[in-house]
Amino acid sequence: MCGITGIVTRDSDSIGELLVRCSSKLTYRGYDSVGVAAVRNGKVDLRKDVGTVEEVNKLLRLSTMKGDRGIAQLRWATYGAPTKVNAQPHFGCDDVFYGAHNGNIHNYVEYKKELIETGHIIRSENDGELCVHAVDKYYEETGDMFESVRLSIQDLKGAFAYAVGRADEQEIYAVKMGSSLVAGVAEGATIVSSDLPSVLPLTNNVIYLADGEMLVLTPDDVKVYRIEDGKQLERVPQISNVDAHAAEKGGYPHFMLKEINEQPHIAQDVVGNLDGPRIEEWLKLIEDASKHYLVACGSSYNASIVGTYYFNRLAGLPMLHAIGGQFQPQYGMTMDEDSLSILVSQSGETKDILNVLNLIKGDNYGKTLGVLNVIGSTLMFQADSYIPMACGYEVSVPATKTYYSQSIIFAYLAAKLGERNGHIDPSEAKSFINRLRNDLPALTQTTIDRTGILAKNLARTMIDVKDLYCLGYGFTDGVAKEGALKIKEICYNHCEGMYSSEFKHGPLSIVTKNYPVIFITTTEDSWMVINHINEVKARHGRTIVVGEFEETLEPYVDSKHDYLEVPTSDVLINPILDVIPLQLLSYYLSVDLGINPDLPRNLSKTLTVD
Ligand code: M6R
Repeated sequence: MCGITGIVTRDSDSIGELLVRCSSKLTYRGYDSVGVAAVRNGKVDLRKDVGTVEEVNKLLRLSTMKGDRGIAQLRWATYGAPTKVNAQPHFGCDDVFYGAHNGNIHNYVEYKKELIETGHIIRSENDGELCVHAVDKYYEETGDMFESVRLSIQDLKGAFAYAVGRADEQEIYAVKMGSSLVAGVAEGATIVSSDLPSVLPLTNNVIYLADGEMLVLTPDDVKVYRIEDGKQLERVPQISNVDAHAAEKGGYPHFMLKEINEQPHIAQDVVGNLDGPRIEEWLKLIEDASKHYLVACGSSYNASIVGTYYFNRLAGLPMLHAIGGQFQPQYGMTMDEDSLSILVSQSGETKDILNVLNLIKGDNYGKTLGVLNVIGSTLMFQADSYIPMACGYEVSVPATKTYYSQSIIFAYLAAKLGERNGHIDPSEAKSFINRLRNDLPALTQTTIDRTGILAKNLARTMIDVKDLYCLGYGFTDGVAKEGALKIKEICYNHCEGMYSSEFKHGPLSIVTKNYPVIFITTTEDSWMVINHINEVKARHGRTIVVGEFEETLEPYVDSKHDYLEVPTSDVLINPILDVIPLQLLSYYLSVDLGINPDLPRNLSKTLTVD
């Protein structure tokens, strides 16, 4: 949530253009409001308003701003409504200090009161403003910017990162205290940002940071210091090989559609990565543990549900799945030093997951294995080991390709474990992994080609639907929940994902004539799912089916597009493919409803708050 970008450059003509170009790559982190503070000849020009980067840039001509340093911020509102005054960056008491933050200041209420009592003028209801005032406060005491930034941290409680400057000083300062921050060093310019995509348009010469560190940016270098004692730390920039164009649409109307279409290639990359030498380390971590937990949020959680079915079926391994925020109250008392928690997070920055990581590390609750997409994320640095999702940047707020990658990772790990512990025949394990390696890319492509048109047509018939269910059984339990999440998230419809045998225990009463219920099934379970379909049909509901073609299912749909038919494979591949038509359905429905699926209202891709 929220994205900050700070740049110091020798080219004083282009700061506005640079900040807009780089910070627009963070749109997925926040799009409630945007602001730029640019410093020219010792004066800060601060422009900000409600809207996306494009909208606010058009309104306030941000990209024409001049100066040799500046800070931009894209906001996802938490403290304070999305209004102009709450937009970031903020000034301190006067227009000398300027800065912006990402994260939450938990002692906002008390600290704001304290600052006001000591004469600070606070204009907004946004906690980011307090970061600037904290620096301002210590500057009054020390007259030294470096010390003021360093000391400000003792007043601010929470998980955050901020960038700050003074009109009459050439440097920009930044701190990392629990929220992500990365820096870059280019020729005659340096940058600090909440995330790598906004650094890459300027440079691939990157410095990753740890919590408790602060930076000082000049046009020629970035110096890193430990906040605790102000000691300078040695940090050599590394060359990032992340593709800078990954954050571009590549001819697709939306990132979401582009990312759905990347899935056939991702299958190859994910399996190729799992085929590599680190697999031994990951399998051993799982094998050495006596208890196993899969912890995740949102789509990553839904993929984890699918994972538990693979671990059960292929490895005979019970894996408890938990939502990040629920983990401690639900399972905290059951953990010990022999436990393994697999923390699944696309961003590797989700606060609910980092809270679990900190709990485990603090209480010696065993080992952690991250499954993550963002290289350089906090989860990557702090987990005992990590498996990369190997998807490239996922920009669209709705997760698609990362969910798909996670399902493959769990399927692969489970088959390998089952092969080693004898739960399944080695030839069965090898054959399944070969199918993931050799057949899945083409099957995925066929699924996109075949169900794309059907999903588009189906979406048109659902334009007035406001309420529906998405039901799965066995392996498709998590798939149904993921389909429902997509429809909720980008179509603003109420769609509940649940286990299909549960539907008759209450929700069935909602069904009246044409009430839509989507059933997702594998070939193995369709005999059972037909019972659940009949229960809806008998009440004149509309049943939509996702799965392989089966003659027994065909009579239950009223038209061709109500059967989102995936290509023939097998029960273990079905759950990986079945999510794709649901991604496509939600995408087309969202577009038909006039919504931008990449930037659904009220949301942010990376949730670094509690
Ligand atoms: O980065 P993470 O995987 O930890 O994110 C978890 C959720 O916030 C995320 O999956 C969210 O539910 C998606 N926007 C759903 O499409």
